[in-house]
Amino acid sequence: MTKPIRFFLILLLAATSTLIAQSDDSLKIKSSYFEVNDFVEDNEACLKCHGEEKYLIEDPNSGRSITNHMCPDRTIDRDAFYSSVHKAFSCTDCHSYDFMTFPHPLEVRFEEHFMCLDCHGYDESFAQYHFEDIEMEFQKSIHNMEDFSCWKCHDPHSYKAFMRNAEDLTEAILYDNNMCLKCHANFSRFTLLTDREEINVVKSHEWLPNQTAHFKSVRCIECHTAISDSILIPHQIMPKADAVKRCTECHSRDSRLMHTLYKFQSKEERKGGFVNGVIMTDYFVIGANKSPFLDKLSFLILAGTLLGIAFHTFLRIRNKKTK
Ligand code: HEC
Ligand code: HEC
Ligand code: HEC
Ligand code: HEC
Ligand code: HEC
Ligand code: HEC
Ligand code: HEC
Repeated sequence: MTKPIRFFLILLLAATSTLIAQSDDSLKIKSSYFEVNDFVEDNEACLKCHGEEKYLIEDPNSGRSITNHMCPDRTIDRDAFYSSVHKAFSCTDCHSYDFMTFPHPLEVRFEEHFMCLDCHGYDESFAQYHFEDIEMEFQKSIHNMEDFSCWKCHDPHSYKAFMRNAEDLTEAILYDNNMCLKCHANFSRFTLLTDREEINVVKSHEWLPNQTAHFKSVRCIECHTAISDSILIPHQIMPKADAVKRCTECHSRDSRLMHTLYKFQSKEERKGGFVNGVIMTDYFVIGANKSPFLDKLSFLILAGTLLGIAFHTFLRIRNKKTK
């Protein structure tokens, strides 16, 4: 494994922080869960296995039992679940009751899942998210292939509307990029969906100088989606040939970042009459923004010069009069 790939995996792991088994059950079920969810006890019927590193298989006939590992792909982090957008749900709101039996029966593995639009489509209370527009963009996206649904990026057990509520832009960028790297830095997930050869994202972006700094400051979707004015998060992933490669798309006065990454903030800032306001305060993008410090300094110099001239003129007039 190359170093950068390992770096991405670490970022990924940090964000999805797998559950570390604790021996005391009462520590795992926090009182805060009860504040957001009425089915905490019911959910434990599933989480006693899916919330643990290991689970117990019992044979009621013989009374024997074996301890086994829960596969990490099937493990659910309680903290992440109870702070996700669907934190109030019970497992069986989305899954069949037939999962109560173990081993899980075959038919139930083919259960149909509700899609975002089934619950959120054409609903006034979610209008700000523009679900319908997002669905249309997804239809046009290169990911619109068999078995690829909204849930592939939006983990049903941990998704948060991060960017919209972000206080720290860097954290939100990491969160969003990890949604892509879940597959693009993990070939075993990628390969479930396609027979294509492995794509090495680090190699594919070698043309970008200082890749690590860029991936910390911009999201994958900055370069890989068409700009959309109606929605906060553009969803139409374009073929790689249409991805942004020209530096000046970002490093210029009318940076595309104003229409993507800094969109939410820049709307707020524009009320104050500033353009590229966000880049000016938190980030410095070469060519895209003026430095606030230099702005102030040049204002001070200008003001100082004018004052100097005024004072000089005043002295000359006064001196003339006294002569
Ligand atoms: C006794 C432990 C145990 C309990 C309790 C349990 N599961 Fe599972 N579940 C497993 C194991 C082990 C697997 C992975 C192996 C397999 O697919 O059989 C699994 C697999 C799954 C899968 C993936 C199936 C697939 O084919 O991809 C789903 C979904 C699931 N469980 C949901 C649930 C839900 C919902 C509950 C609670 C109603 C639940 N499980 C309760 C042990 C358990
Ligand atoms: C908001 C709906 C929703 C809720 C609530 C939900 N799930 Fe799921 N779950 C899904 C969907 C959708 C999938 C399939 C994901 C995919 O297609 O990649 C899934 C997949 C799974 C899997 C298979 C492994 C995986 O992550 O893909 C397991 C195990 C599972 N769920 C268990 C649970 C348990 C246990 C709970 C309760 C703590 C729960 N789910 C709550 C929607 C939900
Ligand atoms: C089974 C129905 C159902 C499905 C499927 C579903 N949601 Fe939800 N979602 C809800 C409900 C109900 C709420 C409100 C929960 C609450 O207020 O506690 C919600 C809340 C949300 C919120 C927070 C809204 C807010 O303003 O608080 C977001 C964002 C969201 N869902 C996104 C999604 C996405 C993205 C998908 C698909 C990947 C999806 N949902 C699938 C029912 C669903
Ligand atoms: C290729 C990955 C990907 C797929 C597929 C995807 N999304 Fe998203 N989606 C994202 C990312 C990344 C975000 C930004 C998350 C954040 O930080 O808030 C997002 C955010 C959202 C939001 C929140 C927007 C807001 O204004 O806060 C909604 C709603 C949403 N997606 C709906 C959907 C629906 C519906 C689908 C399927 C039709 C879908 N997404 C498929 C990656 C994806
Ligand atoms: C669930 C796994 C998964 C996730 C999550 C995912 N991708 Fe992909 N992506 C794939 C697969 C599979 C392909 C290969 C599609 C094919 O067979 O051509 C692909 C292809 C691509 C391509 C190459 C298209 C081309 O022209 O060859 C780009 C660019 C891309 N994804 C960007 C993204 C971005 C950006 C995100 C996050 C917003 C993301 N992906 C999230 C699985 C994923
Ligand atoms: C600064 C713009 C930019 C950013 C940021 C960016 N990409 Fe790309 N990406 C490109 C361009 C341009 C290409 C096409 C490169 C080429 O064809 O030489 C590309 C190619 C790809 C491919 C196809 C590679 C192949 O060899 O088929 C994938 C997959 C991909 N990017 C995923 C991602 C992911 C995941 C992220 C976030 C971690 C990301 N990109 C961030 C511009 C970007
Ligand atoms: C998607 C927008 C985008 C594109 C495209 C882009 N950049 Fe950047 N670049 C940024 C942002 C944002 C930063 C600020 C990084 C930071 O936080 O320091 C940056 C920082 C830099 C830096 C300073 C890195 C450092 O060490 O801090 C250099 C040099 C740079 N870019 C050169 C380029 C070149 C050359 C290209 C074209 C091959 C390019 N960029 C394409 C957005 C972009």
